[in-house]
Amino acid sequence: MAEIVIVRDKAEAGALVADEIAGLIRADPQTVLGLATGSTPLPVYEALRTRLKGVDVSRVRGFALDEYVGIDPSHPESYRSVITREVVEPLGLDPSRIRTPDGSPAGIEHHGDEYEQAIVEAGGIDLQLLGIGTDGHIGFNEPGSSFASLTRVKTLTEQTRRDNARFFDSVDDVPMHCITQGLGTILRARHLVLLAFGEGKAAAVAAAVEGPVTASLPGSAIQLHPHATVVVDEAAASRLDRAGYYRYAYANKPDWQGL
Ligand code: PGA
Repeated sequence: MAEIVIVRDKAEAGALVADEIAGLIRADPQTVLGLATGSTPLPVYEALRTRLKGVDVSRVRGFALDEYVGIDPSHPESYRSVITREVVEPLGLDPSRIRTPDGSPAGIEHHGDEYEQAIVEAGGIDLQLLGIGTDGHIGFNEPGSSFASLTRVKTLTEQTRRDNARFFDSVDDVPMHCITQGLGTILRARHLVLLAFGEGKAAAVAAAVEGPVTASLPGSAIQLHPHATVVVDEAAASRLDRAGYYRYAYANKPDWQGL
């Protein structure tokens, strides 16, 4: 079972997860991070700014979950740009060590395999940050995605395009296709940390954590992972049946376990 941590607000979630990441980097300067875009991970990146001051981050490697297909990498909403702006620059990471899947159409059929190879060569992802979509997607693995899937091109659902329209001038400007780490890729990371905030995510969180393991709800794949942590605020936790137990378990968590 994933460990569920119910926090007061985004700031507390960001501090908790940033402490864990900073600890990993201090212990191993070559830590490989799995980076997520969207609104959800921003409090983590924000909290990391202070925690990584004076820490050697020059050898940290990072792999983003996904990218739009056909978007100019210099477009402000390409995930390459987003990761550069929100993670690489503020944290002082080496841009050459941070990768996003290559969404350029030329040779796109090979870009997934190349990305998988790069992750393997880096030694695998130590900690993968995840958000969850209102339809239960993680990365851009939309409902129906195989649990064995690796990085590949997918078609975004209309729901996801509507959800992401806020980053573009209109929903028509949201690309139709993406290239995303697969659920199989995500399950290979050593530690999964899924964050979710707000009432709008409550149903997806409850289904992912307490519902059946099913490709119809890709987030439920985390139930198959031996080390998954779900950090949610009260609103995102509001539809969990066992919230009382999660609070009790976390309050009595042995110190040696870490996050
Ligand atoms: P959000 O997106 O963080 O912007 O809510 C999460 C997701 O779609 O995975």
